[in-house]
Order: sequence, then structure tokens, then C-alpha cells
Amino acid sequence: MQAANLTVALTGASGAIFGRELLRALEADERVARVHFVASENSLRVLAEELGLSGRTNLTEKLLDAIPRKIIQHPDNDIGAAIASGSHPSDGMIILPCSMGTLAAIAQGLANSLIARAADVTLKERRPLILCVRETPFNRIHLRNMTLAAEAGAVIFPCIPAFYNQPIDSTEMARQFVARVLAHIGLPQPGAYVWKPEE
Ligand SMILES: Cc1cc2nc3c(=O)[nH]c(=O)nc-3n(C[C@H](O)[C@H](O)[C@H](O)COP(=O)(O)O)c2cc1C
Repeated sequence: MQAANLTVALTGASGAIFGRELLRALEADERVARVHFVASENSLRVLAEELGLSGRTNLTEKLLDAIPRKIIQHPDNDIGAAIASGSHPSDGMIILPCSMGTLAAIAQGLANSLIARAADVTLKERRPLILCVRETPFNRIHLRNMTLAAEAGAVIFPCIPAFYNQPIDSTEMARQFVARVLAHIGLPQPGAYVWKPEE
């Protein structure tokens, strides 16, 4: 398999820990060559609330707790970044967590931020787009937008972790969820829990 080139976005939905664990898993995965990373402006507020991280400066380093080797961060207003173009080779995009606002922008094809544009390009190029949506409860607009995005080719992969693996804390829960997401795009993770019913 050729080394993967992926795009990852964090938006302002709850669940920043899922995004952090996704970036850590990709940074550690030798099958991944490059990760283009975009954090929405509103994700910064949630990162501060949930993980105690403040500011955009060195955000990747703060999330990894290490100097990034393969993750490049782009501002969400840089619509000239490489990932805004279909000619840029990419193996897919994961938005984790994905807010209802970003879902709406993608479902309606607004392409009005780098995240929305990169997602739009991913759909038009028929590449995998994984939307890890997070809200509860859903209103009819959210449900309609999920249907629209799914009909356009996105995978709706809600932030609903499993409990049957008996995670000991929220980090373990997030890691196992991330493992499911990565298995879905062909990057099965070592240490991922696999359900084995008694024979
Ligand atoms: C602490 C906090 C938690 C939030 N949780 C959610 C959520 O789970 N789902 C959601 O759709 N929006 C949530 N929001 C609201 C979004 O951040 C807001 O709608 C924002 O405009 C989304 O912008 P973005 O999609 O550009 O990141 C939350 C906001 C805050 C401050």
C-alpha cells in the first residue's frame, strides 16, 4: 500500500479528545506519510474548555505533546492551501468532531472555509469523507443535512463510542473510537478491540 496522505479537521463540536487521539494515531502510523490538519476558529474554544489548550500557536505540538513529524496545520481561512484543490493527491478526509454548522456547510456545498472547501473537493473527487458528527438530540435540519451529505458520498460516522470493550477512561474510549474510524478507511490499528463472542 502506498503511504497515505490524509486531511483531518477539528470543528467546534464537543469531543476534542477524539480529534487529539486521531492526530496522535496518525502521527504514530508508519503507513501515513502526510496529514493536512485544519482546526476551525470555533474548535479553539472547545479545545480550551475540554482539554485546557489555549491559542492556535503550536496547536499541533500541544495536541501531540511532541514536535509533529508529518502533520502540517493550515488556517481555516486559507482557501489557497493545497487541500482546497482537487489536483492535490489525497486519500481522504476525516472531520472529528464535526459540528452541525460544518455539516450544514458541507451538505449545502458552501465551500466558504478551508474545511468546507476541502470536504467539497473530497466529495467531487469521489474520495472518502468521514463526518464524525456530534450533537444530541438531532433536529430535523441536522437529520436532513446528514442525509444530503450521505447522498453526496460522505460517511456519517457519529461520535458514539462503544461500551462493550469496557474502556477505563475517556482517553481509552476515544482511542477505540478512533481505531474504528481508521479501520473504516483501511488503516486497522494495533490494539484495537475486536468483539469476539463466546464460541
Ligand atoms: C463547549 C462547546 C461545545 C459545543 N458542542 C457542540 C456540539 O456537540 N455539536 C455542535 O454541533 N455544536 C457544538 N457547539 C457549537 C459550535 O461550536 C458552534 O455551532 C460553532 O459555530 C461551530 O463552528 P465550526 O463548525 O466552524 O467549528 C459547542 C460549542 C461550545 C462552546
